[in-house]
Amino acid sequence: MYPELPFESVKLPDDFEGLHFGLYVDHKLTGVVSLFHQGDIYQFRKLAILADVQKSGYGSKLMEYILNFCKIQNATKLWCNARVNAKEFYYKFGFQETEKTFFKDGYDFVVMEKRFTILA
Ligand SMILES: CC(C)(COP(=O)(O)OP(=O)(O)OC[C@H]1O[C@@H](n2cnc3c(N)ncnc32)[C@H](O)[C@@H]1OP(=O)(O)O)[C@@H](O)C(=O)NCCC(=O)NCCS
Repeated sequence: MYPELPFESVKLPDDFEGLHFGLYVDHKLTGVVSLFHQGDIYQFRKLAILADVQKSGYGSKLMEYILNFCKIQNATKLWCNARVNAKEFYYKFGFQETEKTFFKDGYDFVVMEKRFTILA
């Protein structure tokens, strides 16, 4: 995610309140994403695939997994702080841009969200 920074830099103060998913390829941790929620609103953070195997479909697998997970939890919304240069990736999964943008750690971010239809 930030390969140039120390491991400590990707730790979050509320990590113990989150759910952390790992994708393993041949027993090697290859992708990660963390999910946090307040009520039925979910946020994912720190989605990252190992640099040498990016664009091999693993990010999509993780995204599909957490989308299904959120549906099973009856989430109404899933949102993230998306790097602007990864926006296209999120469009593929039905995320929409909001008007909230910011700059942090050398990257431009935009808040993106996907709303779920609750089936009765
Ligand atoms: C962004 C990231 C999670 C995507 O995972 P991935 O395994 O590389 O993506 P996939 O192989 O599943 O890609 C699925 C599609 O999204 C596209 N895509 C992937 N990364 C993209 C990016 N950064 N920008 C635009 N499109 C992207 C792929 O080209 C592919 O398109 P296709 O279906 O038309 O072929 C991964 O590249 C990554 O870890 N990047 C560095 C960290 C990062 O940017 N994390 C996200 C922070 S918001």
